[in-house]
Amino acid sequence: MGARADRSVLLVVCGGIAAYKALELIRRLRENGIRVRTVLTEGGARFVTPLSLQALSGERVFSDLFSLTDESEMGHIALSRSSDLIVVCPATADILARMSAGLADDLATTVLLATDTPVLAAPAMNARMWQHPATQANIATLAARGVAFVGPETGLMACNEHGPGRLAEPDSILAAILARLDGAQPLAGRRALVTAGPTHEPIDPVRYLANRSSGTQGYAIARALAAAGADVTLVSGPTTLPDPQGVHIVRVETARAMLAACMQALPCDIAVCTAAVADWHVDEAPQKIKKTAGQPPPALRLVPNPDILATLSQPSPARPRLVVGFAAETEHVVEHATAKRLRKGCDWIVANDVSPESGIMGGAENEIDLIDAAGCTHWPRLDKTQVAQRLVARITAFFNAPHVDGHTP
Ligand code: CTP
Repeated sequence: MGARADRSVLLVVCGGIAAYKALELIRRLRENGIRVRTVLTEGGARFVTPLSLQALSGERVFSDLFSLTDESEMGHIALSRSSDLIVVCPATADILARMSAGLADDLATTVLLATDTPVLAAPAMNARMWQHPATQANIATLAARGVAFVGPETGLMACNEHGPGRLAEPDSILAAILARLDGAQPLAGRRALVTAGPTHEPIDPVRYLANRSSGTQGYAIARALAAAGADVTLVSGPTTLPDPQGVHIVRVETARAMLAACMQALPCDIAVCTAAVADWHVDEAPQKIKKTAGQPPPALRLVPNPDILATLSQPSPARPRLVVGFAAETEHVVEHATAKRLRKGCDWIVANDVSPESGIMGGAENEIDLIDAAGCTHWPRLDKTQVAQRLVARITAFFNAPHVDGHTP
């Protein structure tokens, strides 16, 4: 989609240690031809100077609600409506609370209350502050009123604590801004297939073999692909998760049914196989297996299942242009996953440690290594939604790259 040349952002810089990243954001926005005007709060001015903002944005900085000069040149009401998007970065716990309460006791809150322009907030705060029910309630209120959010990410923070609350990287904030300014759906017109969840392999009519996969990561990837505009089919094993919106979902039980549903979903451009597919099914008994006194317990005869990822990766005219596998490992994660990528013939493999102490399988967070033909990149421990968004950003970059060759651009 062609970008308009006259796009503008009003950036509200609040008082947090992450305020310095707003400077990088201004630079990136201007590189993208976006006009940036800034409102600096009193707290923000303790972390960055008006002069830095002015130098980088090339515009005067608004900081005083009661400045008569500002009011004569451009009042706060006009300022609040003068851009295509208002971006609050960093959005502290304090400004989110004040926005939620509808306060208007400084220029930033007055602008935010007076505006009818879309607002995007990039929260940054200590993990406990982020997790506090008060902050979560404010976020829910603001989201219900239409405020969009980017981040926070999970990681080590300036206060030396680990957890959710880190400001999203300037790249992610930029992508979120561009998506809103341009209505960008970078994967519009692309078809994607995602497998997710465990499979259930019947032993007899009442029993089955299963595993601990919850489907969370696969569902998050399906949602992120759909948000980027892709036409998504999610082939899911049994999970307790609700159907993601805007995604065509096919629910199956066994590996064989999952393969059949995947073949039905072809052709597609992207396949992401997150499902924890059982490697074997059981030679199924037609009736419930009974205990017989004095007899040894019955032996289960295991029969290999088809490998869905390897099947989708096989060279053929119907092969998706990008096939991404997951590698669930409990030791030597990168070595095993690297070998698995080659063995299965997929383009990228997302390796994760599923040993019980990692808490990843069935948990809310994931820590992965992304392996492609060029090598391996380690990502910090992130919420599974963030892993999905980052992966989709990589997929978008792959399809936008001039040379599509299976390498991570
Ligand atoms: N996979 C698949 N079909 C199978 C088995 C696995 O599509 N029958 C896919 C998974 O969705 C994942 C990748 O293959 O994308 C690797 O799965 P994993 O369980 O890590 O590996 P396995 O092939 O089962 O190998 P092993 O159990 O030896 O580690």
